[in-house]
Amino acid sequence: MTVIKVKPHKELCPDGAVIKASPGETLAEALLDNDIKIEHACELSCACTTCHVIVRKGFNSLDLATEEEEDMLDKAWGLESESRLSCQVVIENEELEVELPKYTINMVSEEH
Ligand code: FES
Repeated sequence: MTVIKVKPHKELCPDGAVIKASPGETLAEALLDNDIKIEHACELSCACTTCHVIVRKGFNSLDLATEEEEDMLDKAWGLESESRLSCQVVIENEELEVELPKYTINMVSEEH
């Protein structure tokens, strides 16, 4: 199992969390399985960006994002160089530390 540290997020994970996932699983699945209810408006099919995360540790151990993912990421709120769509990140053996952005494009469009 691979350890994934999740930094605290006010609504989704107030105290942060340390979870374990099987290699081959996607990061979004691992978060959801552990009750971290990251948004996934397109049902994990790389078509919405609401599952955006920033991979603070272990980013370089991951497979590169596809062009499709990069195109979607361009629309994400708070994009950083270590941003990924968690539904497209396949867990490998290296420990990861992820940050959940404060907003998603859904929230921004609803609240502002
Ligand atoms: S859930 Fe929509 S892009 Fe990941």
